[in-house]
Amino acid sequence: LFDAVELAPRDPILGLNEQYNSDTRPQKVNLGVGVYYNDEGRIPLLRAVRQAEVQRIEAAAARGYLPIDGLAAYNKAAQVLLLGEGSEVIASGRALTAQALGGTGALKIGADFLRQLLPQSKVAISNPSWENHRALFERAGFTVETYPYYDPATHGLDFDGMLAGLKALPAKTVVVLHACCHNPTGVDPTFEQWQQIAQAVKEGDLVPFLDIAYQGFGEGLEEDASVVRLFASLDLTMLISSSFSKSFSLYGERVGALTLVTSSQDESARVLSQLKRIIRTNYSNPPTHGGTVVSTVLNTPELHGLWAEELAQMRDRIRAVRTQLVEKLKARNVAQDFDFVLAQRGMFSYSGLSAEQVERLRVEHGVYAVSSGRICVAALNSGNIDYVANAIAQVL
Ligand code: LMR
Repeated sequence: LFDAVELAPRDPILGLNEQYNSDTRPQKVNLGVGVYYNDEGRIPLLRAVRQAEVQRIEAAAARGYLPIDGLAAYNKAAQVLLLGEGSEVIASGRALTAQALGGTGALKIGADFLRQLLPQSKVAISNPSWENHRALFERAGFTVETYPYYDPATHGLDFDGMLAGLKALPAKTVVVLHACCHNPTGVDPTFEQWQQIAQAVKEGDLVPFLDIAYQGFGEGLEEDASVVRLFASLDLTMLISSSFSKSFSLYGERVGALTLVTSSQDESARVLSQLKRIIRTNYSNPPTHGGTVVSTVLNTPELHGLWAEELAQMRDRIRAVRTQLVEKLKARNVAQDFDFVLAQRGMFSYSGLSAEQVERLRVEHGVYAVSSGRICVAALNSGNIDYVANAIAQVL
């Protein structure tokens, strides 16, 4: 049966973790995967999460099945974080949310649903985009193309190219947009640019799929949702995949959500019924623990406040680390100007390192980065930043 099965390539991001884990060098540093580590080099267990977990254990809650679309209180809280307290879209029943297995799970449910609805459509992702976007939509049956996004010459956005690219897409093309903290570049359009992007999406009758896995890591929880709210204000029907993996430091709990904005309450009910069929035939219903913990935090004002503070601390530490990295590279007299790292937002920096330099970082120094040159600055800390700066200076 399996004679002719070929060995698949390693995953470009999670495959690095496998390599990193089997590396025996004590000085190794993992800047590959998008995970936040604290200054002690550990994935933090947030205090708000811990308190919600203690409550859950003490309540000795039964572990029955959740509804197919997940915990209602979780879904509602996820909607409010995205669309805002007092959102007209929520009040009019035009938003529906299904708890999902992380942001990736949300993308997959959305992709399967869209493929069923729009079998003739293609998907357009940014150039570059998160490595898994292309693979995920292709596996759902779509042909995936790219629209211009990043300009390596300026280390910034190719806004004219992006807008022209979007305007050239046929109607009903599914356009995947990173609503904040673009992965992998860390380069986001300004709000004024987003207004033009949203207009182009609307006028071109494109289908926006907003991916927001890093809400709270850019400017703040509310600020980072401004693009979602802009699209909602234009009465665009859309899909939104969101994730609490990073913002709650609950990576392995697979806490995400798929939210759809429809044209009416009746449409929402029909759409949700179809999403439930997709979920039921894939994994039946989501797990209880992570969803319950996130829901408890988001629905308890005191814990919500504590979480927002802890998230702000993570955001501030990443900013500080960006500054330190740039200073340390300058101090090592590297020829390149790395100031662009300061303007990038979220966990990542598209460092401009070539695949060959990334390879040397790994082989010679045990510093792991994605071959595109993406480094996770959220994994730098006071114990490893000098070592990393030295390693980068050497491969440059
Ligand atoms: C990343 O981009 O590193 C993260 O989103 C983790 C993943 O699933 O790839």
